Amino acid sequence: MKSLPDFDMVLFGGTGDLAMRKLLPALYQQVKTGRVNPASRILAAARREMSKAEFLALAEATCRPFLGEAYDAETWNAFAARVDYFPMDVRKPESYGPLAAALGVHPERIRVFYYSTAPEFFATMSANLGAAGLISTRSRVVVEKPLGHDLDSSRTINDAIGEHFAERQIFRIDHYLGKEPVQNLLALRFGNVLFEPLWRREWVQDVQITVAEQLGMEGRGDFYDRTGALRDMLQNHLLQLLCIVAMEPPTGSDPDAVRDEKLKVLRSLKPFTAADVATKTVRGQYQAGAAAGMPVAAYVEESGVDADSRTETFVAVKAEIDTWRWAGVPFFLRTGKRMPDKLAEIVINFRPVPHPIFGESAHGGRANRLIIRMQPDESMRLYLVAKQPGEAMALQPVNLNLDFAESFRDRRLEAYERLLMDAIRGKLTLFVRRDEQEAAWRWVEPILDQWEASEDRPRNYTAGSWGPAASSALLSRDGLAWNEEY
Ligand code: NDP
Ligand code: BG6
Repeated sequence: MKSLPDFDMVLFGGTGDLAMRKLLPALYQQVKTGRVNPASRILAAARREMSKAEFLALAEATCRPFLGEAYDAETWNAFAARVDYFPMDVRKPESYGPLAAALGVHPERIRVFYYSTAPEFFATMSANLGAAGLISTRSRVVVEKPLGHDLDSSRTINDAIGEHFAERQIFRIDHYLGKEPVQNLLALRFGNVLFEPLWRREWVQDVQITVAEQLGMEGRGDFYDRTGALRDMLQNHLLQLLCIVAMEPPTGSDPDAVRDEKLKVLRSLKPFTAADVATKTVRGQYQAGAAAGMPVAAYVEESGVDADSRTETFVAVKAEIDTWRWAGVPFFLRTGKRMPDKLAEIVINFRPVPHPIFGESAHGGRANRLIIRMQPDESMRLYLVAKQPGEAMALQPVNLNLDFAESFRDRRLEAYERLLMDAIRGKLTLFVRRDEQEAAWRWVEPILDQWEASEDRPRNYTAGSWGPAASSALLSRDGLAWNEEY
């Protein structure tokens, strides 16, 4: 286990939801592994006037449920010893004094500025950090998604950050890239020869990427109502997963080799015409229903949400990639809130055998299928067709199942742990480059524009269902169906 170099991490938005649920717990876990030297510091900053002791009490109470069994008082004390708190208004240059004084104690250190606040502050924060002389060549900035709400606004924010940080210092986070099974998909594709010849239009019938959540708004209604599923999830997480599935083998694992290949995929996505938006996209909004057996309210009744909101809480699209490898292979993407389960998976459906020598009925139309599951379990299952025991030549699918929890006993890193460590070490491979982000915005913009211009509302779906019926119709028009082997 390699310990991290000494660092100062400034966590702007240190009292926020993301910091409490993901970032502080990730840092705690890293303290627990012994990777964080006692000299390293976590400098949380937020608007609320509070003492360091009050912040730590709040953090302990809020983070503890997310730490579960990993929590113990001794590690918490070791973690707390590295934490400080700075009440400040990030918009006001005069409020950076105490932070500057603390950082000035170790001018030589790696500094990571984590922008866990609303993106409208990112430009001002960068300018204020620059003016206070706090950005050195050893500084990095981590920015959260979604960056902006369209191509123009993301360019404006990127330009403003770029005035103070070089591109190699900017870590645009997409935590799906830090998930273990996504790393494993890279290993599967580029660490084995078996799949490469099959990973193309000749053998792949369709690809399905699902990220379904059981949760509703969880107090984020105000943010979500201005954002929607397409900007919150599809523009970033789902498109990044699509890139990992579809990219050509990179020449190496250095950041630009990988990111160049992802960029090519994003640039090869077939643009949507207005007519395509009607036939190849589905947006939905949940109505009252049930989650985990309990009744739940409709989206428009959630706190922070407009009573006549047209924001989508579900989106499904049929994407196509215009390359020799993928021409004609549909990539179906869907994501939504208030679905029956928390499920994140990539399904690669291979083509059926060219000629069923045992007869259609024996085969039952079954084909090979690879399922990479990120949630709720982390696994990879390859479905093969085998003979059922018995007299008849009847075939059925069996699977080779790699369950990471069973195969590897080591504690698996949470996505944010891996990515925070990478940011501290300056490793950019799992972070999104500006041109990738812009290509993703460019591709989703016609969908956003068309939805905006249309008088139609999102289609209704009952909370606890798999989205509007039109989502199934999106596939059935091609004679296909969403994977239902959960
Ligand atoms: P929250 O609204 O929960 O937290 C916002 C934070 O910003 C709070 O700490 C708040 O401080 C602070 N803040 C607000 N205004 C100021 C100000 N003027 N000066 C200093 N601090 C200020 O947001 P989230 O944690 O949910 O989100 C943070 C970022 O992460 C956003 O960009 C979001 O899009 C992104 N994100 C969030 C995810 C999540 O699951 N929450 C997931 C993925 C991305 P105070 O509490 O004192 O008001
Ligand atoms: C975030 C979205 O980026 O990802 C949230 O803003 C969503 O709305 C979350 O709940 C899902 O992440 P995970 O890792 O829980 O699937």
